[in-house]
Amino acid sequence: MKFPFALVLVLSLCCLPALEAAVYKGQKAYVKKCRKCHGGGQKMAASKRMKDWNKLLNKKNKGSGLSELHLGDEKAKASWKYFDSKAYRKSAKHLRDFMVEYADDSGNVPACN
Ligand code: HEC
Repeated sequence: MKFPFALVLVLSLCCLPALEAAVYKGQKAYVKKCRKCHGGGQKMAASKRMKDWNKLLNKKNKGSGLSELHLGDEKAKASWKYFDSKAYRKSAKHLRDFMVEYADDSGNVPACN
């Protein structure tokens, strides 16, 4: 074998810049929009499994699971404007990447950070 494919594979799984960027964007959105009500992002992420986050922040429906959850809860009223906005629908996929990255069953060790 002339080319170290295994190395490339490991690197792309671990440190793919695009994925890193998405996780980072999601984390930034979380800090800006969610932390005031929910506290630390990694703790929040670890409170659910990947499957649950994929359901709440589904790419196809632009995260409507999570927005409906908040829009239907009087206690979350201060977040309604955000969850009903284009900004939320745009960052839903980044939020998903961040949550899945640190989900309870992600087994993730932040090796590349
Ligand atoms: C204005 C405050 C507020 C903001 C901002 C807010 N939330 Fe919430 N959130 C709530 C409330 C209230 C509930 C429902 C009651 C509860 O379980 O805490 C809730 C519920 C949730 C749940 C379900 C919890 C469970 O146990 O199933 C998740 C997940 C969640 N929020 C994530 C987020 C994320 C991600 C953001 C940022 C995009 C966000 N929230 C922004 C107030 C907020």
